[in-house]
Amino acid sequence: MREIYDALVIGGGAAGLFCAGSLAQAGQHVAVLEHGPEVGQKILISGGGRCNFTNLEVSAKNFLSQNPHFCKSALAGFTPFDFLALVGEAGIAWHEKTLGQLFCDGSARQIVDLLLARMGPTPPRCGVNIQAVAHDGNFRLETDKGTFRAQNLVVATGGLSIPKIGATDFAYRLARQFGHQVIPPRPALVPLTFEAEWISALAGVSAPVTAQAGKARFAESLLFTHRGLSGPAVLQISSHLAPGEGFNVDFRPGTRLEDALLAAKRARPKAGLKSVLAEHLPARLAAHFAEAHSGNLADLPDKSLRALGAQLNRFAFHPTGTEGFAKAEVTAGGVDTAGLNSRNCGSKTVPGLYFIGEAVDVTGWLGGYNFQWAWASAHAAAEGI
Ligand code: FDA
Repeated sequence: MREIYDALVIGGGAAGLFCAGSLAQAGQHVAVLEHGPEVGQKILISGGGRCNFTNLEVSAKNFLSQNPHFCKSALAGFTPFDFLALVGEAGIAWHEKTLGQLFCDGSARQIVDLLLARMGPTPPRCGVNIQAVAHDGNFRLETDKGTFRAQNLVVATGGLSIPKIGATDFAYRLARQFGHQVIPPRPALVPLTFEAEWISALAGVSAPVTAQAGKARFAESLLFTHRGLSGPAVLQISSHLAPGEGFNVDFRPGTRLEDALLAAKRARPKAGLKSVLAEHLPARLAAHFAEAHSGNLADLPDKSLRALGAQLNRFAFHPTGTEGFAKAEVTAGGVDTAGLNSRNCGSKTVPGLYFIGEAVDVTGWLGGYNFQWAWASAHAAAEGI
C-alpha cells in the first residue's frame, strides 16, 4: 500500500485526534496511525470515566517545563472556551466539579465521539505498527500495513504513563533520530510510596490538607494508601518533587493547632488529647497522633502540645519513591521545547515535523490542564501545517 498525505499523525490520543480533526476541517488529506486496537483510550478512563476535559482557569503557571514560557502561545491560541464551544456544539452536557474543573455529565466516550466526528469520513487506522521513519523532503513511514508518505508528520504518541494501554517511548526515539533533545521523562501526578508502617496502617483515611514543596502549594485532599500517599494534593505535589525530595503537609489549614490545643487545655483540662485532635483531624489520624500521649490534656506539658500542634501544621514527609509509570497520570519531561517553535510546536530544524501533547516537555497540573494542553498544542500544529 502506498499513500501520500498532507499530514500523517502518529498516535490516536487526545492531541493526535484533535490535530487530525482540525486538519480535516481545513480540507487537508490526513491520516491518524495508532498502534493500539482503539483510539482515545486515556480519554475513556480519564476523570473516573467522565473526562475532566478542561479547566476554566488555564495559564502557563499551571504547567511544568524546562521553559515555562513555551506553552503560552499555544494556550493563548486555543483557550478552554474554544474547546467548550465545540463541546456545546456537540450537545455534550457538562458541569464544573471543583476548582474550575469541567467534566462531562454523561461519559468520556462523548469526547472521543466529538473528536472522531471532527475527522469526517476518514477514520483513524488502528493496529498500525511503525517500523521506520525517513525524511527525504517528504516523510516516509514503513509500517506493517505498508508505506505511508506525507509532507508533514505530527508526533502525538504521548508519554510513558500507563504502558498497559499502549504508552511507548516512540516520540523520544523519533525526536532523537531527528536531532532533538529529550528531557528525561519521569512519572508525575503519581502516588508516592513510603516504608513507614504507620502510613499504610492508616490506608483509607482522607483529609483536606495543604501540601507544599518549595513554592508549589496545593490545598486539596490527601489519601493514605496501603503503599503510601495519594489523593489530589499528593498527586499535584509529586510533579514538583525531584527523586529524594520531601514535602510538608498542613493537616489543619487555617488553624494554628498549637494555639487550639493550648486553648483546649485551659478550657477543658480533663478532655483527652485524642478527642480534642479529632475535632480537627479525621478520627483515625487523631488516634494515631494521640497514641504516644496518655492521660488528660492537663497531664501534658504545654511544650509537648505546642510541638505536636506545630508538627501537624507542617508535617514533613519523605517518600521513598513513586508508584511509577504504571500508576502515573502523566509523564513530566519529554521532547525538549528548546528545539521546537512555540507558535506551532514544529521542529526548528526539520521542516514539517511537529511534536504535540504529552510527548512534549510540558506537563499540566491535575484538573483538566493536560487535556487543554493536548487540544491547544494540537491546534497550534494544525495552524502551522
Ligand atoms: P495519549 O497518551 O492520550 O495518546 C497517545 C496515543 O499514541 C495513544 O493512543 C497510544 O496508544 C499511541 N501510541 C503510543 N506509541 C505509539 C506508536 N509507537 N505508534 C502508534 N501509536 C502510538 N488529563 C486531564 O486533563 N484530565 C483528566 O481527567 C485526566 N485524567 C487522566 C486519568 C488517567 C488514569 C490518566 C492515565 C491520565 C489522565 N489525564 C487527564 C492525562 C491525559 O490523559 C493525558 O495528558 C492526555 O491523554 C495526553 O494526550 P496525548 O494525545 O498527548 O497522549
